[in-house]
Amino acid sequence: MKKIISVVGARPNFMKVAPIHRVFKEYEKDIHHLICHTGQHYDEKMSKIFFEELELPKPDFYLGVGGGSHAVQTAAIMVEFEKILMAESPDLVIVVGDVNSTIACTLVAKKMNIKVAHVESGLRSFDRAMPEEINRILTDAISDYLFISESSGVDNLLKEGVSKDKIFLVGNVMIDSLVNNAAKIAASPILGSMGLKTEGYILTTLHRPSNVDEKDSLTRIVHILNKYAEKHKIVFPVHPRTRSKMETFGLSGEISPNILLCDPIGYTDFLSLMEHAALILTDSGGIQEESTYLGVQCVTLRNNTERPVTVELGTNHLIGTDIGKVDQAMQAILDGQVKKGTIPPLWDGKAASRICAQLTGLLKNRS
Ligand code: UD1
Repeated sequence: MKKIISVVGARPNFMKVAPIHRVFKEYEKDIHHLICHTGQHYDEKMSKIFFEELELPKPDFYLGVGGGSHAVQTAAIMVEFEKILMAESPDLVIVVGDVNSTIACTLVAKKMNIKVAHVESGLRSFDRAMPEEINRILTDAISDYLFISESSGVDNLLKEGVSKDKIFLVGNVMIDSLVNNAAKIAASPILGSMGLKTEGYILTTLHRPSNVDEKDSLTRIVHILNKYAEKHKIVFPVHPRTRSKMETFGLSGEISPNILLCDPIGYTDFLSLMEHAALILTDSGGIQEESTYLGVQCVTLRNNTERPVTVELGTNHLIGTDIGKVDQAMQAILDGQVKKGTIPPLWDGKAASRICAQLTGLLKNRS
């Protein structure tokens, strides 16, 4: 029996580990799969609700680290995760995505000579001002097995000199969650309860430090939302970071009443809101992928994306942070100039099956 610990920390990790946990149940005779939650995200609406909806079991280990500066948070995760690895001696640690929990746990495991698999490896924005880019580069550099969601990731890793035998193009586990939960998403009552009609509203989420941490940029964003709110309903679930910046900058009182500001929304309700939106305006990574799968127009308020397939094949419009250009792009889409996207290769709901089969084989061969 091999022991594997998967790490989750922040909101976008939960829907990536859920399908892996689900598939590992098929390998119960060979694999004991455990989940460690670092507690990077800790609010009920940023964490607990996802465990319930995605049918993730209560984590086997909860590190309870909470917020803090990058150094404080990363260091706290490392100190606590080392204790778990010392007590458990797993055969493998699985990390997903690009959050501080990802690099912190990878670093601890590798210093203890424990194998690490990185899921959603190889993505690069080529913008080292993003904390996530630093986390991605470092995690990939020291992980043993690199599981990749789109072909750009393979090219990036090969250019960085990673050996081919560590690289596995398997598809997108986030899309697995979407496929697994399609019935629940279809049954979500959220549109009715918010008084919304299909394609009758704009959905927005914003949390990148580059957009929300400076008063000028957040003010410009609020102004453009207010402008569109004159003609359209806007649904805006507010991330805790953005909520606190809006209060600090005195912007909370400036929001148009046609903008439905709400707390972060659970998984199935949020996916339903995405599926039926006329347009999504976001700076998220995962939403660029989910909207491409759903074929919904997505305006990305960033200068780069680590997920280029969503622009090349999907319905993502990478517009940048110039508000004039964002305005033009939104208006063009609302006027009917839409991209007809296709679903990227291997985004078929079976990425976790490929990952678990591969890992089980690799671990067997090692014994
Ligand atoms: C983190 C990830 C980012 C991911 C995002 C999704 C890193 C470097 N960044 O950013 O890649 O897209 O999660 O949400 O790991 N907070 C709460 N309650 C919570 C969680 C956070 O109030 O449940 C507060 C924190 O205390 C902090 C702020 O929100 O003040 C930011 O949280 P943090 O985990 O530092 O990073 P995110 O901005 O959420």
